[in-house]
Amino acid sequence: MSVEIDQLLGIRDRVALVVGGASGYGRQCALTLAKYGAKIALADRNEAGIQETMAQIPGEAKAFPVDISSVAACEKLVADAVTSFGRIDIVVHTAAVLQSRLPDEVDEEHWNNTLNINLRSQFFIARSAAKHMRQAKWGRIVNFISTAGLSGGLPASIVYGISKSGALAMTKSLARQNGRDGVLVNALSPATLDSPLFRRGMSETEIEDLKAKHLGITAYGRWIKPEEVANAVLFLSSEMSSTVTGHVLRADAGAELAGF
Ligand SMILES: NC(=O)c1ccc[n+]([C@@H]2O[C@H](COP(=O)([O-])OP(=O)(O)OC[C@H]3O[C@@H](n4cnc5c(N)ncnc54)[C@H](O)[C@@H]3O)[C@@H](O)[C@H]2O)c1
Repeated sequence: MSVEIDQLLGIRDRVALVVGGASGYGRQCALTLAKYGAKIALADRNEAGIQETMAQIPGEAKAFPVDISSVAACEKLVADAVTSFGRIDIVVHTAAVLQSRLPDEVDEEHWNNTLNINLRSQFFIARSAAKHMRQAKWGRIVNFISTAGLSGGLPASIVYGISKSGALAMTKSLARQNGRDGVLVNALSPATLDSPLFRRGMSETEIEDLKAKHLGITAYGRWIKPEEVANAVLFLSSEMSSTVTGHVLRADAGAELAGF
């Protein structure tokens, strides 16, 4: 990698905690950040998926198998990453769950599971990491949200949408708290990706119908590669985004414009 690119990005040898790195966008974010020199702390509850990602990372990385459903697990994850690497500079939080439930079908268990994984973990991981970043006077936190958090989403995604709206409010509030210490906190709303989360237990026919509908209405009319979204995450994780905080970057290829 050229010296100029290293200087532009400023992430070589920085430590990036990627939460949700066993699959989909999280995996690609870990690979892209590692490609440009970051050391990766890779967290997920899917141990087999973690190993698949670890095998592809072109640099220093350590696996953190963890279920982030509890506050204690979130705080321990950050503490363990700092113990292992001596610092934490970047957090990219992609881990989430999406189960279809119409409003009348939502029960306490569904509500708690969705909110705890999607929203509560983003807050407690970001808060714990920001304490270390403030001391270092540099940090980048990128929280994955969704068009559902901006538009409310489909009726059967109501709790998922609520979790992602909450993540956006939390991101903006933490951005205000941490800006003077050089810690920038942003949200990213990615394009549609055919991942386990997207499939959410649908039949092949339902998936094909949804994919056809999606391609028919989106601005680009093509599928986005995870690398394209990971490049937007690279921007938010780097020196290049030094004036950007409390922002939601819609790296969604126009999905929100189309009302998807
Ligand atoms: N795929 C899409 O179309 C799409 C669209 C909009 C937003 N998003 C957002 O992008 C992010 C990544 O989605 P993806 O499509 O890559 O999903 P994915 O299913 O490929 O990956 C999600 C990862 O989160 C992990 N995870 C879930 N619950 C966990 C827990 N309790 N503890 C630890 N790890 C846990 C899973 O094991 C999995 O590896 C999510 O925040 C999602 O809401 C995705």
